[in-house]
Amino acid sequence: MSDLKWWQKTNVYQIYPKSFLDTTGSGTGDLNGITAKLDYLKTLGTGAVWLTPVYPSPMVDNGYDIADFTDIDPAYGSMADMERLVAEARRRDIRIVMDLVYNHTSDKHPWFVDSASSRDSEHSDWYIWRDARPDGTPPTNWRSIFGGSAWTWCEKRQQYYLHTFAKAQPDLNWENPAVRRVLYEAANFWLDKGVGGFRIDAIVYIKKPAQFVDGEPDSDDGMVNIHSMIANTPGILDLLHEFKAAVFAGHDIFTVAEANGVAPADLPSWVGPEGVFDMLFEFSHMNLEFPTGELWSQATGYTPDIIPRLQEVLFASQQATAEQGWYPVFFENHDQMRCVRHFFPDEADRALTAKVMAVLLLTLRGTPFIYEGQELGLDNVAWDSIAAYNDISSHGQYELARAEGRSQAEALAIVNRYSRDNARTPMQWTTGKNAGFSTGLPWLPVHDDFAAACVESETAAADSVLNFYRRLVALRYDSSVAEILQQGSFAPLLTGDDSIIAFKRSLGNRHVYTLLNFSGRQQTYSLPELQGAELLLGNMAGGSLGRLRPWEAVIYTQKWVK
Ligand code: NOJ
Repeated sequence: MSDLKWWQKTNVYQIYPKSFLDTTGSGTGDLNGITAKLDYLKTLGTGAVWLTPVYPSPMVDNGYDIADFTDIDPAYGSMADMERLVAEARRRDIRIVMDLVYNHTSDKHPWFVDSASSRDSEHSDWYIWRDARPDGTPPTNWRSIFGGSAWTWCEKRQQYYLHTFAKAQPDLNWENPAVRRVLYEAANFWLDKGVGGFRIDAIVYIKKPAQFVDGEPDSDDGMVNIHSMIANTPGILDLLHEFKAAVFAGHDIFTVAEANGVAPADLPSWVGPEGVFDMLFEFSHMNLEFPTGELWSQATGYTPDIIPRLQEVLFASQQATAEQGWYPVFFENHDQMRCVRHFFPDEADRALTAKVMAVLLLTLRGTPFIYEGQELGLDNVAWDSIAAYNDISSHGQYELARAEGRSQAEALAIVNRYSRDNARTPMQWTTGKNAGFSTGLPWLPVHDDFAAACVESETAAADSVLNFYRRLVALRYDSSVAEILQQGSFAPLLTGDDSIIAFKRSLGNRHVYTLLNFSGRQQTYSLPELQGAELLLGNMAGGSLGRLRPWEAVIYTQKWVK
């Protein structure tokens, strides 16, 4: 029937293990909690679960600072728990996808500890070391992505080391073949355990430029975001092809790489048969509020013009992946605010808008990625003190905003909107204590909306966001239009409209139409080919052709369009 691969015909569900389900009372989630919820995940059309890192880690960046690439952090369980998770998932036709964080390690990784101990150590050349400038200052004016200099001084070596992210995350030296070899071995270790694929972290930073030079400052601190200095350095693809040959090639898995800043024109060298990965997470649709880079203080906040721009970049990605590669559709992850806040004004109806995003997610062409809690329509949190935030980047960005002269209240408002903790609060299972997440003290506070927005109450409420997701899943994978939604081509519609996002999926002479009103006002449109179409699903009762009520989402089907 179709030549799509298994991962092109399923949803991927992303889990932030620390926040998913705690089975021990420790206050942090664990692998057994994930195993316990596999049947729940199945109701969401899940064929793969992407786990953010579960390796041993000091948790400075919640697991993205790894101290051992081939073990499990005891806080999450044991290797036996992991093997059981992989096996139980397989029994349900779900594959486990691991996160490979290969740009950096933890500063507590034995390799770094050794590297930092002396210039003559065995691992001396495994990280990126440079001498100070004559006045003792760092070699360049690069700002790390989490704020502050990207260089940290090491007393023992009398040198600086480079870190694209936190100082506890030193960058590995990918020019060293010994480094590459152990990284490939670690990935193969997980393939031998039966994992179904990899999400590859921050991969655009692995190749560093031959010369390290200062950049034009982009803020009052005199520094420049390291991203603009090192991302996608020429030569990176040679390293990645070696990685592919040593690890991914020949396996029935999928790879999705976090690749901020790869232009659509460059896609063919990154994805598809001639490229390296199966899919790329690129962020053109997620960074619309960041016209000047990644500084939260310079973001615009929500403005209605975000919608035509969202349409433009999404459609460009759909078209770029029409022939080459495959698109991972996502509107949330563990680094982003909740999508009901992201793409709608504050006064918008949360349940209706969560359903608008659900329709977009599940009717575009590509593999839909659902982030934990998105299926409940969860909203951002807004804590009243910076001290309440755990996320390391929230603290860095708060400091930067303060250094730019903003008041505490202004800096906090910025953090409230963009903090990664918005997506990291514990998963909401029941109306009981701690939303059923833990019997202990949760590592991060549970959102106070949990009684209304949890799996228990949303399962019971017929028109909940969760049940709407399940109807969409049935439409996409088990209905008369399932083939169209999975395999059909994509064509944009109503592109001149500033409030509506609309498109058509087609297979032969069968079509599915998605029409979404991203505004709080009624919108009218003219689409003659919809005459006589059948309404398949909508986020409101009733509805009529040619008109969309505020925040209305509809899916139609039609045959025989000339
Ligand atoms: C991207 C990850 O998604 C994020 O959570 C992490 O902080 C950085 N990479 C550093 O690994």
